[in-house]
Amino acid sequence: MSQKDPLALYKQYYVDRDFEGLDLFEKLHRKYDIQSALYPGSFVHITPSLIYPKTVYVDSDKQAKKFFASPAVLDFIARHKLYEQEPSLTFHANSYAEDFGEATESFDLLISQYAGFVSKHCKQYLKVGGLLLVNNSHGDASMASINNQFELVAVVIRRDGKHRIKEENLESYLIPKSGKPITRSHLEKTQRGIAFKKSASMYLFQRTS
Ligand SMILES: C[S@@+](CC[C@H](N)C(=O)[O-])C[C@H]1O[C@@H](n2cnc3c(N)ncnc32)[C@H](O)[C@@H]1O
Repeated sequence: MSQKDPLALYKQYYVDRDFEGLDLFEKLHRKYDIQSALYPGSFVHITPSLIYPKTVYVDSDKQAKKFFASPAVLDFIARHKLYEQEPSLTFHANSYAEDFGEATESFDLLISQYAGFVSKHCKQYLKVGGLLLVNNSHGDASMASINNQFELVAVVIRRDGKHRIKEENLESYLIPKSGKPITRSHLEKTQRGIAFKKSASMYLFQRTS
């Protein structure tokens, strides 16, 4: 990895590992007309900015702060974006659990990937009717499943690096293998997702109120 290339971290963690998720963000945009996204615990995962004209990233990591401070990031996005508008990209070097100054109910999409209980701390920034894209690795899909302000509207199946959004037969998802009800206190203690009878790579919840 060349230290001179400011985009090296993005390439190393996402491009080289086939983990950019470009097709997923594009499918979400087409299906649900997503224009703006909030990505707490993003690290340097800037792919959403290639699809959504407005994206706000929040991460307390020092490397991420340095990465987003480089003009090369905006330059990369401007050259590779798949929309006409000027990109609007903001990075907050903050804990997402604290106020980072964004307006409530202002985003179409909230992204929660391997970064703790984003749904719990950042739900207020999502528009009512907006979508939460969440995986279960750190327990956030389990946490969202017991929040009555969220309703499961689709699951995402990842196969061979490509993503499919499935809106049918959702009733078989989010059922604990153990048969025991999910509790917030258990999730906060373990910081792990509940094992479900049938699982998906990611879950899409809609904020209902
Ligand atoms: C494992 S990485 C995942 C990065 C990215 N979401 C992805 O899917 O590749 C977790 C990131 O979340 C950030 N993070 C965890 N808790 C956070 C918090 N409370 N506030 C801000 N960032 C947080 C970490 O700094 C780290 O960059």
